[in-house]
Amino acid sequence: MSDSEETRRIRVEGCERSYDCAAGDTILRAALRAGLPFPYECNSGSCGTCKFELLEGEVESLWPEAPGLKERDKRKGKRLGCQSRPLSDSVIRFRADESCIPRKTPKVVEARFTDRRPMTHDLAEFEFHTGETADFLPGQYALLELPGVTGLRAFSMSNLPNPEGVWQLQIKNFPGGAGSAALFERLKVGDRVRIDGPYGLAYFRTDTERDIVCIAGGSGIAPMISIARAHAASPGGLTLDFFYGGRGPEDICGRELLETLPGFGELIRYHPVISMPELDPEGRWRGPTGFVHEEAARRLSDLADHEYYLAGPPPMVDATLKMLVIEHKVPVAQIHYDRFY
Ligand SMILES: Cc1cc2nc3c(=O)[nH]c(=O)nc-3n(C[C@H](O)[C@H](O)[C@H](O)COP(=O)(O)OP(=O)(O)OC[C@H]3O[C@@H](n4cnc5c(N)ncnc54)[C@H](O)[C@@H]3O)c2cc1C
Ligand code: FES
Repeated sequence: MSDSEETRRIRVEGCERSYDCAAGDTILRAALRAGLPFPYECNSGSCGTCKFELLEGEVESLWPEAPGLKERDKRKGKRLGCQSRPLSDSVIRFRADESCIPRKTPKVVEARFTDRRPMTHDLAEFEFHTGETADFLPGQYALLELPGVTGLRAFSMSNLPNPEGVWQLQIKNFPGGAGSAALFERLKVGDRVRIDGPYGLAYFRTDTERDIVCIAGGSGIAPMISIARAHAASPGGLTLDFFYGGRGPEDICGRELLETLPGFGELIRYHPVISMPELDPEGRWRGPTGFVHEEAARRLSDLADHEYYLAGPPPMVDATLKMLVIEHKVPVAQIHYDRFY
């Protein structure tokens, strides 16, 4: 993100398209702003989906050690679109993915921090206000530029798009995390941050007749709450089963938000589960134990006949994908997910 007016012209070989990239923007995000089918997932240097080849020109890496680019990729001259800033006009090549063409054009807006509400011992809902419509699809995420933090951090919206310009984000406080320290220790009401978004493909689909399943772990609750709110706003008779996994009882939250939705308990059903009952030595927890995807498999019948939304730590999402696709033959087109790297 930059205020710079200077732009670089990027030509994409193979799709006969060119776009302008502001000098401070990245190869990936400028392509998405221009409506190009640039493949991506995390936007944070970790998944490797946004790899491209530089055929002509000069590009700098914002994070040379980004885990999304393996040594083998580097030897082949590959780069990460989400971590590359052009230093000159350039020619690039990537594997186009039409599903990545944004349905909402991402843009950078200035926002004012207005509130922080605790949800658990290490999770809080942050609220930001901008001067313009908060235009995103339920389930999407935005990138925050935080003072004193290198690189942007991705956070999913938990509210619904709105003309008032309110962005609610449910954020986990990671011990030792640079973004966590900025958000939980330094950010004061009235401070300004920049929000770049929306991004992400795990948005709520309205063109399906299948019952909905949300499976979340930890901070993965945020986009699922947004999806549940969107579903409640126009239910159409479909059910939504909301599985939420934490390690111990003190990690569990979400019921109080879902309970306020019309249809809770009937069309919308909440299933919390903890994976480490040893964190509950006094036996306060009366609910099920195990991994959240296992609880979903236990509770649901006809697994291949649902639309799935998944969010949370990469091992949780990967285990859920494996269970759904390999063990229960759920078509991949019915599963929408974000791994929270
Ligand atoms: C699509 C997506 C959605 C997410 N949604 C949420 C959410 O709703 N709530 C939530 O709590 N968390 C969410 N996360 C995780 C969040 O973005 C952070 O990874 C997490 O908060 C830890 O950040 P940290 O700065 O505290 O930790 P750190 O360890 O400092 O940073 C962790 C992450 O920041 C990025 N990063 C680190 N260093 C650099 C660098 N030098 N340059 C560029 N990037 C760098 C990497 O992605 C890394 O995984 C999401 C992640 C993704 C990918
Ligand atoms: S989108 Fe660039 S590494 Fe994930």
